[in-house]
Amino acid sequence: MAERENSRKMYNEINLDKIDINANPPTEEPARQYYFMAKCRQYTEQFQEEHGRIPMAHVQNYGCQMNARDSEKLAGILEAMGYGLIDSEEADFVIYNTCTVRENANNKVWGRLGYLNVYKKKHPHMKIALCGCMMQEADVIEKIKKSYRFVDLVFGTHNIYKFAELLYTALQQNDMVIDIWKDTDKIVEDLPVERKYAFKSGVNIMFGCNNFCSYCIVPYVRGRERSRKPQDILREIKKLAADGVVEIMLLGQNVNSYGKNLHEPMTFAQLLSEIEKIEGIERIRFMTSHPKDLSDELIAVMGKSRKICNHLHLPLQSGSSRILKEMNRRYDKEQYLALVAKIRAAVPDIALTTDIIVGFPGETEEDFLETMDVVKKVGYESAFTFIYSKRTGTPAAAKEEQIPEEVVKDRFDRLLKEVQRCSTARAEALTGRTEEVLVEEVNEQDDTLVSGRMGNNFIVHFPGDKGLIGKIVKVKLKECKGFYFYGELDGQER
Ligand code: SAH
Ligand code: SF4
Ligand code: F3S
Repeated sequence: MAERENSRKMYNEINLDKIDINANPPTEEPARQYYFMAKCRQYTEQFQEEHGRIPMAHVQNYGCQMNARDSEKLAGILEAMGYGLIDSEEADFVIYNTCTVRENANNKVWGRLGYLNVYKKKHPHMKIALCGCMMQEADVIEKIKKSYRFVDLVFGTHNIYKFAELLYTALQQNDMVIDIWKDTDKIVEDLPVERKYAFKSGVNIMFGCNNFCSYCIVPYVRGRERSRKPQDILREIKKLAADGVVEIMLLGQNVNSYGKNLHEPMTFAQLLSEIEKIEGIERIRFMTSHPKDLSDELIAVMGKSRKICNHLHLPLQSGSSRILKEMNRRYDKEQYLALVAKIRAAVPDIALTTDIIVGFPGETEEDFLETMDVVKKVGYESAFTFIYSKRTGTPAAAKEEQIPEEVVKDRFDRLLKEVQRCSTARAEALTGRTEEVLVEEVNEQDDTLVSGRMGNNFIVHFPGDKGLIGKIVKVKLKECKGFYFYGELDGQER
């Protein structure tokens, strides 16, 4: 398998060669983890002597963008240890970074583990690790202990920064290593990161969630809301900019409540204004915005910003005020629509996208029609639609009126059709315009084309070569294909 291309690392000042691995491990972080990275490097060097090649590692991500960012951190640590990274599970070390937001996310992991077991039987030296949100569930851990004995290392979301130390322990012994924490208030900065893209990057601004929407497992598996210090975030972004990154995506479960628990509180809008000043960063995105916390201050900052993209992901979940109350979302249909109107007035060409759940317990046809009504009224550029999935331990799971599968399926299909209709109408209205596009990759189907993303998050394919990757260019949108476009370069690079 080909090694990953296009990737960039963020190295820190700590030099692994200068670490005395025969001394006792330091107690402070991140020094302690660098010590264990140096220890693991001894192992990878020995592996190379024995096998005539470096050991290969595969990091598989199953979750949201925050999970994807965590996977980049795992990959960065593995690389610092001397592993090579590959896109195949036929590797010497495989780690699954799991998600548990819906049942099907879990099922994928159980399914893949079956394959890994078969592969490991033929390659007994292989090590398998599981981490991420699913591992924070007690019944998952029981199942692994009972039926997945071939797994070598299991850890959760709160101690992911300890990966180097945990892997070192797993390499030393044959028994399964399990380390799951209930919660943490700790944020460890400055661990290595291996970015998937050279020109864009996610940046965590906060961890956890305090909202407890009644259907959602995230607050239970990610713990309480913790914001990173603004100076740490700004330092990271400056470093990324110096490294050639032009677009950043600020990540948090509810970015609009950023900064509330800081020693010196700061609003999300203030943070954005600081980030805007960083030279080299051309585009700023963020996700996710909870409608209940989206402030006028933020709308004003978005309205006058040159760098914040004209795209807002604003999860609706349901259009029925009654269901929204049951979901503990703390806004109603009218407030949501009023918010949309306010944003559109301040940022006229903004693209709005959303998340919608169909089949929440007790959802009636009337409730569902309210959701359809909001979709029609807002006219989203795109929407992620989900069938409600019962998550153990959440308040909604205890509700009796679960909706029959065929009813949910019918509503889901109707919703999808409406969402696609709105999305196509929105896209078609852009045809003929010239838009700024960040070129992301050579088109997978046709290598005479490159593919890029506009500020509003629509994708356009146009003739060009790989030299354009990472550049922002002007592209004329010639033909709309529903949710993407064909176009052509219009004039000079920016
Ligand atoms: N923090 C973000 C969302 C994180 S989860 C927010 O509040 O918007 C991403 C999406 O998964 C949610 O917006 C929701 O639409 C969906 N989701 C969460 N729990 C779900 C469940 N139990 N069943 C179906 N979809 C769910
Ligand atoms: Fe889940 Fe709600 Fe938190 Fe989003 S805001 S992560 S949906 S509890
Ligand atoms: Fe999934 Fe965890 Fe993200 S449950 S959606 S990976 S926060």
